[in-house]
Amino acid sequence: MANHTNVIELRDVSLTLESGAGPVNILKEINFTIQQGQSVGIVGPSGSGKSSLMSVMTGLEQATTGDVIIDGLSYTGADEDTLARHRLKNVGIVMQAFHLIPTMTALENVAVPLELAGVNDAFDLAAKELELVGLAHRMEHYPTQLSGGEQQRVALARALVPQPALLYGDEPTGNLDGQTGRAVIDLIFELARERSSTLILVTHDPALADRCDRVISMGDGHIIDDTGDTSSVTGDTDAVSQVTSK
Ligand SMILES: Nc1ncnc2c1ncn2[C@@H]1O[C@H](COP(=O)(O)OP(=O)(O)OP(=O)(O)O)[C@@H](O)[C@H]1O
Ligand SMILES: [Mg+2]
Repeated sequence: MANHTNVIELRDVSLTLESGAGPVNILKEINFTIQQGQSVGIVGPSGSGKSSLMSVMTGLEQATTGDVIIDGLSYTGADEDTLARHRLKNVGIVMQAFHLIPTMTALENVAVPLELAGVNDAFDLAAKELELVGLAHRMEHYPTQLSGGEQQRVALARALVPQPALLYGDEPTGNLDGQTGRAVIDLIFELARERSSTLILVTHDPALADRCDRVISMGDGHIIDDTGDTSSVTGDTDAVSQVTSK
């Protein structure tokens, strides 16, 4: 894969969706770039557009206007097939609800993305990933036979097993008690750092956001604060990368 320092680029992105009461402007004039390996917390009140922003970045929702470029691919106007393949390989997502397949064991759940990608040793790799999240002894358990924290660790293993450049979490600990949630979060930061994955974490928890390299605050569909806003020094960073690439 080509070397993209900016793994996520959003340019003048808006999102307008239809509702019964007419069109709703959910995201407005969103601009930012995120560098490979950065951890970014996204915070803001309920309804401010955090999950919608995630949907646009993960390609689950097409931006109404503007450009969304993820790891070198323009998500704007890309066909479903290209998007799905790109997501499978480059993007891991962990949500508040675990979304495990109830009729599959932990091991089978984690193997799914690899099997979809046609990987031969899917089950070996899935088993290794489950070991990394501390579930070597629970591989043959079905989701209903696992605690909430264990289910979320299975979901995390499933998100990470394709070695995605990008890991997204939308309130990934929202359904867990404080202690279990902290353990899962520690694991997310640890595994993301080990692999130099870019981590995008939507959270209501300011303490959690503070653990990230950068915090983007949403309000009413706008970015109202961005601790990593480099737009004023874009020219400088370009100059630096030109010099260092010589
Ligand atoms: N499919 C949709 N059609 C119309 N409006 C929508 C749709 N999805 C979300 N919205 C609206 O967009 C706004 C932003 O929603 P979003 O889910 O992104 O908020 P959020 O910041 O993630 O909130 P929360 O913290 O409660 O999860 C909300 O006002 C919501 O009602
Ligand atoms: Mg949300």
